[in-house]
Amino acid sequence: MSLTNAKLSVIGLWKVFGPHPKRILQPEWRSRSRKEVQQETGHVIALKDVTFHVQQGETFVVMGLSGSGKSTLVRCLLRLIEPSEGQVLVDGEDIVRYGSRRLTRFRRRKAGMVFQRFGLMPHRCVLDNVAWGLEIQGVDRRTRERRAHELLETVDLVGWENSYPHELSGGMQQRVGLARALAADPEILLMDEPFSALDPLIRREMQDELIRLQVKINKTIVFITHDLDEALKLGSRIAIMRDGEIIQCGTSEEIIMSPADEYVGEFTRGVRKADILSVSSIMKPPKTRVYIWQGPALALNAMREAEEEFAFVVDSQEQLLGVVTFQAATKAIDRGAWRPDLHDLIEKAPMTLFPNAPVSWLLSKLLDYDWRLEALPVVDSEGKLLGEVHRTAVRGITTAIATPNAKEKAAQSA
Ligand SMILES: Nc1ncnc2c1ncn2[C@@H]1O[C@H](COP(=O)(O)OP(=O)(O)OP(=O)(O)O)[C@@H](O)[C@H]1O
Ligand SMILES: [Mg+2]
Repeated sequence: MSLTNAKLSVIGLWKVFGPHPKRILQPEWRSRSRKEVQQETGHVIALKDVTFHVQQGETFVVMGLSGSGKSTLVRCLLRLIEPSEGQVLVDGEDIVRYGSRRLTRFRRRKAGMVFQRFGLMPHRCVLDNVAWGLEIQGVDRRTRERRAHELLETVDLVGWENSYPHELSGGMQQRVGLARALAADPEILLMDEPFSALDPLIRREMQDELIRLQVKINKTIVFITHDLDEALKLGSRIAIMRDGEIIQCGTSEEIIMSPADEYVGEFTRGVRKADILSVSSIMKPPKTRVYIWQGPALALNAMREAEEEFAFVVDSQEQLLGVVTFQAATKAIDRGAWRPDLHDLIEKAPMTLFPNAPVSWLLSKLLDYDWRLEALPVVDSEGKLLGEVHRTAVRGITTAIATPNAKEKAAQSA
């Protein structure tokens, strides 16, 4: 992913807790494991050479066991904890180099943080809690209260303006926390396990609400969680941390289908892969695609080259019109009647797929499909041919889903 169009880039970030972090950053220590460094020097390597890039509008999820460095990471992004080494680029500017005035401005305007334990001010009413970020920016009372009202409407808390945090349930308090983080309209939203203190039902509601809200506000979000379901639901990409390092970073499909190691596999165990994977993950470019104005001889050529029994037929806009089979094209040529194009020979594709359809849906559709054609077309919402799902890809996915991961294998053989 290129650095230039990333909204947020973290590059080679280190955080060492202890009296002499600089010493630990010297070559003889930096290659040693966290455990060794801690045992021999008493320093804790909380972040070890962390690098990732987040695009504008993306929800980037960070997962990892307790103590893996997630909170340290997200706090370093605002410099609530000072990094020991490395860069945090926001719109290409390294905020690690900011002086205190620019840093304050950055914190007030560009980035908002939602904390795990709400972090509301108990002596202030809901409205004043939400308006707080604008108050410290010096925004006048009327404007900030109007904005706070708007946000309370967004998070469905109208009528609670004058209540105090202790009068609200956990879910409601977290909504206030979210409204407060959004009040200054930051471009980046940092969320450190924002929903983990909530009971499961409220938690799911809050996730749905965040998804709905994100469609509207399109922020760049870094979201920390322990919970895989939450990560899969919210994240466009997921980074998995262990002992201060990112050990794998990718889409949920990549993490689930090819976990980097046992630790990652452990996180994804028990996930119904077919629900997570989409048609696009098993789609390939179409092997044989011909234009409607091409004749049967050209179509046959294309099929022979690809060793296929059929070809997809498209118009000049790449819209899928149907398929032509090897048999139909051969017959037309054998009959010797000259045909200028494929109009009379095409037939409707037996099924068309959308790229974001879940594989589980596809598998259920294919239960009694006879695979007369060896591949099915994938089209976009305008009917343009994007690719194909080949029979072998479906077979591959069925095997992958049925194959236990390393841990399950070990358990089975024990
Ligand atoms: N101020 C500190 N001084 C010394 N060590 C610290 C400090 N803050 C964090 N650590 C250590 O850094 C490591 C990472 O902590 P961090 O809070 O980032 O983990 P986490 O992934 O957020 O865990 P959790 O899921 O429990 O919130 C831990 O080993 C922790 O003990
Ligand atoms: Mg934490």
